[in-house]
Amino acid sequence: MTSDTAPSICQAYRASILYFKADPAFEQDASVWHEDGLLVVEHGRVKAVGDYAQLRPALPEGTAIREFHGKLLVPGFIDTHIHYPQTDVIASPARGLLPWLETYTFPAEHRFDDEAHAREVARFFLDELLRCGTTTAMVYCTVHPASVDAFFTESAQRGLRMAAGKVMMDRHCPSFLSDDAQSGLRASEELIGRWHNRERQMYAITPRFAATSSDMQLAAAGELARAHPDVFVQTHVAENTEEVAWVKSLFPEARSYLDVYDRYGLLRPRAMFAHCIWLDEHDRARMRETQAAAAICPTSNLFLGSGLFDFALADAARMPFSLATDVGGGTSFSMLQTMNEAYKVARMRGTHLPALRMFYLATLGSARCMQLDGTIGSFTAGAEADFIVLDPVATPLLARRTARAESLEELLFAFALLGDDRAVLATYSGGKCMHARE
Ligand code: GUN
Ligand code: ZN
Repeated sequence: MTSDTAPSICQAYRASILYFKADPAFEQDASVWHEDGLLVVEHGRVKAVGDYAQLRPALPEGTAIREFHGKLLVPGFIDTHIHYPQTDVIASPARGLLPWLETYTFPAEHRFDDEAHAREVARFFLDELLRCGTTTAMVYCTVHPASVDAFFTESAQRGLRMAAGKVMMDRHCPSFLSDDAQSGLRASEELIGRWHNRERQMYAITPRFAATSSDMQLAAAGELARAHPDVFVQTHVAENTEEVAWVKSLFPEARSYLDVYDRYGLLRPRAMFAHCIWLDEHDRARMRETQAAAAICPTSNLFLGSGLFDFALADAARMPFSLATDVGGGTSFSMLQTMNEAYKVARMRGTHLPALRMFYLATLGSARCMQLDGTIGSFTAGAEADFIVLDPVATPLLARRTARAESLEELLFAFALLGDDRAVLATYSGGKCMHARE
């Protein structure tokens, strides 16, 4: 590999550079654009970013400059909801969420008690994320602690910043995937001790969803979360009407599906709730009050026929949300393809999602949802140097369309609607080149 794989040396990258300081839906001057920009990286962190002409003279003697002329350099994408053990069941058709789980997902997850299998899938999964420009993800493992060890081992070897956790589920699932409240708690505690904040690895307490956890298990997850305020929490909520009705029958005392989690103290900063399609006004207000965040998964929601997230209502409630793939319910690892479908979902709800907003949601917006702003998702000085280089001429069609782009918004929109892994020329994590397209 070239010398830019060594993170300890000062490196500079010349390209058109875009990043965010705020949410463009709510603030003026939320984005920063340098047409001819320079990103300076030292010891794996952002040292400076700005106009090439301004920064070039101040570079330390001998700094290598990597030229990406005509390319777009942005922070690495952050996927806030994805299942690595479902890599092999992507694109498996079913008549909705619950049959899909029974038919494909649970049998596939069974194999993750075998650490060698788990390691092999984790390797492929991480390579695929990097090929798509995703540098951080919130990842579900399976119920087996070995699946978490396998994942974090592979992630740590690559030096990636990832959040992941052992699925907790103690009912309404095959016996081969079941833990119990005590064993799930103990295993999760051990994994937190082993992995949380070990270099760039971060633990996420992961009760699968309310239907597969007993009251006792949800209470245990809530206790664990209280004991570890900086650990993440992740689960599913209000994805599918059948699932919502099932949860209502299992928890008749709860005001809503989201309220089941609220009662156990699981709504809080660093808690990520996937889907959130069938929330009501009160639920959205609770999300805002508690700073729990939503992971919106349009490719999955369309594929499984789950429903259309209402972006306008979420914004009106000022509820934190981000974009996510939800592979294997989701049909692509690419956050560009995820934007493509998000845009159409918004249209079906009568709203318009600007491309600038979608790029925010996939970078700084996700970092904020994870309370990791300042660390990833933007180029403030000292941030970890996770970034990608997008190629506007990656395919003949993309080249033809971007050549006619008359604004930054048009350029980003072309990437979002026509782009996928082919548009990602290079992916850097902690200043190291992790993927370079052939
Ligand atoms: N709800 C509970 N488990 C799952 C899962 O694995 N995928 C999706 N999309 N929804 C879920
Ligand atoms: Zn999911």
